Amino acid sequence: MRVVSGIQPTGNLHLGNYLGAIKQWVAMQDAMGPGEDSLFFLADLHALTVAIDPKELNSNTIEMAATLLAAGIDPDRAILFNQARVREHSELAWILGGTARTGWLNRMTQWKDKAGKNREGASVGLYTYPVLQAADVLLYKATHVPVGDDQKQHLELARDIATKFNQDFGVELFPLPDPLISAAAPRIMSLRDGSAKMSKSDPSDGSRINLIDSDDTIVQKLKKAKSDGDLLPDSFGGLADRPEAKNLVTIYAALSDISPDAVMTEFAGKGFGAFKPALADLAVAKLGPIRDRLTRLLEDRGAVTEALSKGAARATALAAPTLAEAQRAVGLNV
Ligand code: TYM
Repeated sequence: MRVVSGIQPTGNLHLGNYLGAIKQWVAMQDAMGPGEDSLFFLADLHALTVAIDPKELNSNTIEMAATLLAAGIDPDRAILFNQARVREHSELAWILGGTARTGWLNRMTQWKDKAGKNREGASVGLYTYPVLQAADVLLYKATHVPVGDDQKQHLELARDIATKFNQDFGVELFPLPDPLISAAAPRIMSLRDGSAKMSKSDPSDGSRINLIDSDDTIVQKLKKAKSDGDLLPDSFGGLADRPEAKNLVTIYAALSDISPDAVMTEFAGKGFGAFKPALADLAVAKLGPIRDRLTRLLEDRGAVTEALSKGAARATALAAPTLAEAQRAVGLNV
């Protein structure tokens, strides 16, 4: 088993990233046996596809790496690095650009959403973003990719690219990576709008809980979270038409590692006046220790950059042979 996943170093790591992806990363890292590897990276090259402040990109990358360490990624077991340090990502992306079809990229919902009506003005990088993402996982011959639901389409594209590459060049170079989507938290929604996903780019900070938030901020954000005036039913299925209520119960269940139905058994017949304070206590108890570790790590950034350097060297050792195989397969004279 070879596990690979990434996160963009833009903004703060939030509860959606944590419950949808990072918690699974930590579980996978802990489950690796001898000869198996888990690789997690800061997708700094992907961050270049939208407007960024160069002064912030570097510090965001360090801070996001520190957050991953605080959330339980162990650089002695997992390989933690930033994408730009392993040049093979960019080189393989270019090669795979010859395999991917524009028709496939045109169908990507993230491209359509992010480019919006202004396609002519969107960057080329935003359009070819999923090809780089395919290179990220295929470079390591990943078998499993733990992600939130919103990345599923990009991984299906990675499988299509791998299949076509293997066929076109008559090789069995790339295994097809399986997306691992968290059953507990495939898509955590905004605290302000149950129909929008919790996101780093939402202009309202009250829409998300950041892993750096103080206890008091967490409590206030959950207090103000959109809910409804109805009582909680005795089964999770009874929340089908109540997106905000469903989201808060999902967060409770995912944070406490119990099923949503078990949460409903505990709170059936109660309203949000009782549920929200219990959720706030739980969130503070689970996230407080992560924030405290993060605060300490941010005071000693040297340890974080050292972990990233070590991770980049280990990642390069795994990436270089695959790139060489891909170059040979397509007949490049390198
Ligand atoms: P990014 O940086 O947007 O998010 C990182 C991870 O968090 C998950 N996620 C969520 N899960 C549940 N609910 C939410 N509201 C939520 N918001 C985010 C994402 O699904 C993701 O798993 N393109 C990727 C980064 C990337 C990557 C890769 C991922 C680059 N190369 C290769 C996997 C493999 C992205 O922008 O994720």
